Amino acid sequence: MKAHVSMSHGSPALLLVMIFLCCIESMVQATTSQLEVRQLLKRLNKPAIKTIKSPDGDIIDCVHIYHQPAFDHPLLKNHTVQMRPSIPPSGLYDENEVASNMETSSIHQLWRQNGWCPENTIPIKRTKKDDVLRASSVERYGKKSHRTIPNPISSYMQEIVQGHEHALVYAQGGFYYGAKAIMNVWNPKVEQNEFSLTQLWVMGGPDELLDSVEAGWHVYQNLHDDNKTRLFTYWTQDGYQSTGCYNLICPGFIQVSNEVALGAAIEPISTYDGPQYEITLQVWKDPKTGNWWVQYENLSPLGYWPASLFPFLTNGGSLVEWGGEVVNYNFSGQHTTTKMGSGHFPGEGFGKASYVRNIQIVDQSNNLQAPQRIETFNTRPTCYNLSHADNYIYFGGPGKNPNCP
Ligand SMILES: *[C@@H]1O[C@H](CO)[C@@H](O)[C@H](O)[C@H]1NC(C)=O
Ligand SMILES: *[C@@H]1O[C@H](CO)[C@@H](O)[C@H](O)[C@H]1NC(C)=O
Ligand SMILES: *[C@@H]1O[C@H](CO)[C@@H](O)[C@H](O)[C@H]1NC(C)=O
Ligand SMILES: *[C@@H]1O[C@H](CO)[C@@H](O)[C@H](O)[C@H]1NC(C)=O
Repeated sequence: MKAHVSMSHGSPALLLVMIFLCCIESMVQATTSQLEVRQLLKRLNKPAIKTIKSPDGDIIDCVHIYHQPAFDHPLLKNHTVQMRPSIPPSGLYDENEVASNMETSSIHQLWRQNGWCPENTIPIKRTKKDDVLRASSVERYGKKSHRTIPNPISSYMQEIVQGHEHALVYAQGGFYYGAKAIMNVWNPKVEQNEFSLTQLWVMGGPDELLDSVEAGWHVYQNLHDDNKTRLFTYWTQDGYQSTGCYNLICPGFIQVSNEVALGAAIEPISTYDGPQYEITLQVWKDPKTGNWWVQYENLSPLGYWPASLFPFLTNGGSLVEWGGEVVNYNFSGQHTTTKMGSGHFPGEGFGKASYVRNIQIVDQSNNLQAPQRIETFNTRPTCYNLSHADNYIYFGGPGKNPNCP
């Protein structure tokens, strides 16, 4: 059959113009976002003095300390890097104390097997184009979702906002100049797009302007393109709305250590009924500069957030938390199978359940001490639970199970 094209039903020229306009429009959109992606990658992947390929596939760029992304922030243009904290807090627990049954080998980042970053550079995990494309938008890349404040006090005790579920302990009512904890490290099974983490938080301010500084480990495929357990820091100054990010993804955190890469994988991992591996994390406010420092293990301090980022933490935070969080995006259907911690309930105890131990706060005089009173915030005990025994706070669970359908 022969097709007849009728010329009388409209101008083919007009049609062509319309097609042209429609395509130009989508081309422009595509180019804008391509351009945005390229600009972001250019901003994140700074020229490297040396590049190290980690055995796990990560590319680590050693970037001059003054070329790190923080200095793209207009307010930090003239910032002089504080190379080390003026006074670390003095400790309550013996740093060398090791639990019985604990492997003492310290936890390394794999990339260090293949090289070092020179003095005055910092290791930055390179961001791939696909990492950005997996985010809901270029703007949201590297950010936690809106309205996910782990706020046990606020009225929206939040019937698990957007599927975020917590099993943690908190201290409130004091002036908290920092927090510290030892946490064992696991590699929980996590569904695509969801995450599972263990971390500490120091927070202050009203929900809409909440300041929070955070550090821990997580498994987060959407951010990292794999299911490895990775070190992270996080911050926000508006309750996760538009400011802040993980690691060095936005200008804010100033790294000084050439030993540790944020976002790099942590190894080895604890095994069920086998060796347990732990990391120590500490954040605290430098009494001289007011900057919020982060320390990982006994390594040289990682870096800091400038004091000016956090007006509501000027006199310390008002809430500190330690524990686990997952996101369950299937919140209207069956519960996710994403695990928290080891994926086992706290009742199983040492060697089987995940924990944070020796939790401490930093007081106004820069001393570490055990919090006077802790309370629990445990949003779904049938899916993930929490219990204490001595200095151990056990938490976690399997997610979906007969009691958590
Ligand atoms: C940085 O220093 C320059 C030169 O001293 C000055 O003009 C500028 O205002 C400063 N910028 C900020 C953000 O402080
Ligand atoms: C991680 O991903 C790998 C490869 O996709 C898979 O074989 C492995 O089972 C996953 N591990 C966990 C704990 O989900
Ligand atoms: C989400 O819930 C629905 C309905 O209960 C279920 O059919 C589906 O398998 C669940 N999806 C995941 C990823 O668990
Ligand atoms: C959660 O842990 C508490 C304290 O150990 C325990 O009493 C409770 O039975 C547990 N809940 C579930 C659902 O396992």
